Amino acid sequence: MCGIIGVTGSADALAVIMEGLSRLEYRGYDSAGVALQDGGKVWTRRRAGKLAELVEAVGDAPARATAGIGHTRWATHGRPDDRNAHPHTDCTGRLAIVHNGIIENHAALRAELEGTGHTFASDTDTEVLAHLIESHLDVGMDLAAAVRATLAVAQGAFAVAVIHAGDPDLIVASRRVSPLIIGRADGLGLVGSDIPALLGQTRELYAVDDDQLVEMRADSFRITTLDGAEVEPRPLRVDWDLEQAEKGGYDDFMLKEIHEQPRAVADTLLGRVTPGVGLSLDQTRLDDGELREIDKVFIVGCGTSYYAGLAAKYAIEHWTRLPVEIDIASEFRYRDPVLDRNTLVVGVSQSGETVDTLQAMRHAKRWKAKVLVITNVVDSSMAREGDAVLYTRAGPEIGVAATKTHLAQLVAMEVLALYLAQLRGTLYPDEINDLIHQLHRLPEDIARVLESNDHIEAVAEQCKGVRDFFFLGRHVGYPVALEGALKLKEIAYLRAEGYPAGELKHGPIALIEEGTVVVGVANRGHLLDKMLSNVAEVRARGASVVLVSTEGDEATAALADHVLTVPDSHELFAPVLTVIPLQLFAYHLAKARGNDVDKPRNLAKTVTVE
Ligand code: M6R
Repeated sequence: MCGIIGVTGSADALAVIMEGLSRLEYRGYDSAGVALQDGGKVWTRRRAGKLAELVEAVGDAPARATAGIGHTRWATHGRPDDRNAHPHTDCTGRLAIVHNGIIENHAALRAELEGTGHTFASDTDTEVLAHLIESHLDVGMDLAAAVRATLAVAQGAFAVAVIHAGDPDLIVASRRVSPLIIGRADGLGLVGSDIPALLGQTRELYAVDDDQLVEMRADSFRITTLDGAEVEPRPLRVDWDLEQAEKGGYDDFMLKEIHEQPRAVADTLLGRVTPGVGLSLDQTRLDDGELREIDKVFIVGCGTSYYAGLAAKYAIEHWTRLPVEIDIASEFRYRDPVLDRNTLVVGVSQSGETVDTLQAMRHAKRWKAKVLVITNVVDSSMAREGDAVLYTRAGPEIGVAATKTHLAQLVAMEVLALYLAQLRGTLYPDEINDLIHQLHRLPEDIARVLESNDHIEAVAEQCKGVRDFFFLGRHVGYPVALEGALKLKEIAYLRAEGYPAGELKHGPIALIEEGTVVVGVANRGHLLDKMLSNVAEVRARGASVVLVSTEGDEATAALADHVLTVPDSHELFAPVLTVIPLQLFAYHLAKARGNDVDKPRNLAKTVTVE
């Protein structure tokens, strides 16, 4: 949610921190701040708003500070203003802390600390950590011991980085649930909440696991558990370079990422789906013996990842004859689902850090279910904790609205469905071969859909005055409709309802009136005629209709005010194509309305609090 960076041993710590923050800003951006070691003091500066506000405010920072910490914030406790921005300090102002997560017992801790004379300067849960550490320093502990003692009583989720004027070379960092990594370069020590923040300085990165503590110095570092046991540093494999994380000539990361989809899908299929060779999932730690015993599948995720799972449910059930339940992660673990060792729980998460999905995976493991994680981030918390992991290889996604990772999730789960069908013998080998050929063709077909960008922009331009949209679909078109509506909500800030088209007559059709825009997913498939009847019903009530249809389907085109076409494909692969015009439609509507599509209001890229 929030972004963290810390550096020690730099000739210009402020520059390293500001560069790191600029790469972290997408994680949270209602305020930002920095704390620097300043010759026996700690200098801090915090500003509400985007990072540019902080850039303007650090003109009088101490020259040549060699160590410091920085933060971009997405508020959870306390308004997004200057005083609640991080870093937070203790009563002396000699200690500064940045934090990502939520300290659930902050109110009780705060009351205790106030009772012993500590004075608070913010409404945040984070500040209790600063004062608790201070109280341990007061009784003679060193900084690492004081942080250890503090985190032993903190409940909730956190990644923290702490500096103190008394030990200017040292950063102490730790995590539980919220992400944290560390980096080393020549005479330089780094801590950060995610990889892009550190990539500008180094590729030598190490993982930090839950309840571990890092003592980072310019020329050395040490990882221990919160109980004090030494931990061997575990190098982190990094496939991304800095250039990949830049906009590559597009106006926004989102548009760049939409255009990267042929590559993202091709990379996700690479080595796993090979015409003439077959299917291979041997890099996933999947055990075929255990998979053969599976008698039920759950798919769990949030937002766009959940919709990818909903589309995959159709394919897995159809091809494997396994029952599939699909759950929103924040509901899953609280509803007491029936799980056992023959249940496969598939956790879908672009980031691999979304707290609801992470906790759902942990819940499933407690009940002995097999957990397979589908994620885009190598060595993320979910990837590390799952029994098996199937990486989507979409590359870094900076735009808050998920696009290329959604397509990569869809194809990863199609591959999983075919693999399970092959293992269980529920499809004939020639059927699988035929599907492999069709999967392999998808990157080319995706590129064809992207060629209609200008046409979709023109359609969006004509809809820019509309405030209410309905998105309808049937069968696998239904999750596509939901995803199209979500995209419009999150970046264009327009009301958009996604519905199964057959459900319309059971209530929502009352909202259709002259001027409502209905976007229908009406590509070729066994329910197309029924879908077109539903389209006729909304047209009869005055709606304007935009249809995603298969190239050459004149009858469908005749029912629409605007047609967005996709190439023909196997019905169960169609969501990989039909969702793209809806991504572009939302993108161009958002741009037409002057919105910042990469950083939509109120949203964060990764939601690491419940
Ligand atoms: O990283 P995750 O895939 O677990 O994130 C899940 C959702 O927060 C995410 O898909 C969200 O809905 C995006 N803003 C969608 O564009």
